[in-house]
Amino acid sequence: MSTRPTQRPAITLTKLGEKKALGEPIAMVTAYDFPSAQVAEEAGVDIVLVGDSGAMTVLGYPSTVPVTLDELLMLSSAVRRGMSTPLLVGDMPFGSYEVSNEQAIANAQRFIKEAGCDAVKLERGGSSVERARAIVGAGIPVMGHVGLTPQSATALGGYRSQGRTAERALHVMHDALGLQEAGCFAIVFEAIPAALTEVIMPRMQIPVIGIGAGPATDGQVLVFHDLLGIYDGHAARFVKRYADVRAEMIRGVKAFAEDVRTRRYPEPEHGYTMAPDEIDRLHGLMSEGTGEPFTGGFTL
Ligand code: KIV
Repeated sequence: MSTRPTQRPAITLTKLGEKKALGEPIAMVTAYDFPSAQVAEEAGVDIVLVGDSGAMTVLGYPSTVPVTLDELLMLSSAVRRGMSTPLLVGDMPFGSYEVSNEQAIANAQRFIKEAGCDAVKLERGGSSVERARAIVGAGIPVMGHVGLTPQSATALGGYRSQGRTAERALHVMHDALGLQEAGCFAIVFEAIPAALTEVIMPRMQIPVIGIGAGPATDGQVLVFHDLLGIYDGHAARFVKRYADVRAEMIRGVKAFAEDVRTRRYPEPEHGYTMAPDEIDRLHGLMSEGTGEPFTGGFTL
């Protein structure tokens, strides 16, 4: 199986900058495997993120925290094989970049070398600003992520919107500006008030991709399983469902099981034929020399 040929030129960092300048909204989705990557490619999105949200949506962990670098590298490699046009961003999981700049660079390099990603994403301001600067300095494009950063949800008081007081809003803005100054090519704003986004946007020279951050950003991102209705877990208020794929999958599998149990499947068109004279010859070969039907050495 190969990726379908595409006519679109690959999305570059320059192209994303142009889109921001022209006011053309940037569409980003997550993907975690070969088929979801193919869907993202054919749907014509600009950026695909192999999000650590895959910890929950495809690996079944209770949060994004336990997912390992190796697990995300495996998912990212599968996504790479399924698409070539959107910019591919690998999400650095919790524990893969916090310890030192050296650790952050070495693990970011794995996303590029082993999984074929174009860029990496990391969460938070604070010490992540220095990590982002170091990774950018090593020649790897970095996407920042501020506001609700699920890897530090416990410290943030749970999965809740951020920046809702003036002081907390200033903190979010400070993080965003720090990541921009560190050389990030783009940044995700997650779950912050639309009014705060409007205050920060005039200060952002890099593309800002929002998720629950209102309409003022340069683009929007949603989790693949959320927007298609594949994931059965709790959906945040910013999720808009564009399909109910899970219900359709259950309907299909139920129909198959029912057909098997009632022997409606398989039907003749699902099988392979054999010429009647070949069947006759088979019987002949089986009984040759013995005068008895061939049993293959077993008692039938
Ligand atoms: O992991 C993820 O899916 C993300 C997006 C929500 C931006 O970080």
